[in-house]
Amino acid sequence: MAERDTKSSDNPVIAEVIERDAQSAVAVAGHPIHAMMVHFPIALVFATLGADIFYWWSGDPFWVRAGIWSAGFAFWFGIAAGIAGTAELVLVPGIRGRVGSWTHAIAAMALLAIAGTNWGVRLTDPDAVLPLGLALSVLAGIFTGLAGWHGGKLVFDHGIGIMVDPNK
Ligand code: HEM
Repeated sequence: MAERDTKSSDNPVIAEVIERDAQSAVAVAGHPIHAMMVHFPIALVFATLGADIFYWWSGDPFWVRAGIWSAGFAFWFGIAAGIAGTAELVLVPGIRGRVGSWTHAIAAMALLAIAGTNWGVRLTDPDAVLPLGLALSVLAGIFTGLAGWHGGKLVFDHGIGIMVDPNK
């Protein structure tokens, strides 16, 4: 069988991986813990937005309580995911050396600030759901999209955290 060239590849993702290894350092059997955790804050941010819309539509105070819980868990799961992501950024030279990692981190930090505010205003004043809480939920949804899209680019465009053998 012919020897493969390990210095270059036609596949742009594999070429980046060969050029600068960015395999996950915070992982279980090679699977990045951050990528496993991010689903929770993403889902809970949109659950909070859903609860606010249902409250606006129905006036049922159940949705105010649901919104307080989902906003709180969105924030704390986001913090937990952010700790794992920050550890990757600090520990892996191939991750912290890519501009895209920092773009994602900045969008994610902004999201965490919005998510924390969204929880905090509800804790201090449950009546703040309309309109402030709803506005913060929309903003959190937009920043979740930005952070998630850039996070996906890290994996799918730059090959960060993937387990591949460049020779195959
Ligand atoms: C706050 C600091 C954060 C840093 C420094 C960070 C860093 C990273 C890194 C290095 C990756 C590449 C995969 C890996 O090595 O684990 C990644 C992927 C990703 N991140 Fe973050 N992240 C942060 C917070 C967040 C938050 C709060 C969210 C979501 C709400 C998020 C969503 C994502 C997504 C969706 C991916 C792609 C995962 C996949 O497609 O499997 N990140 N992030």
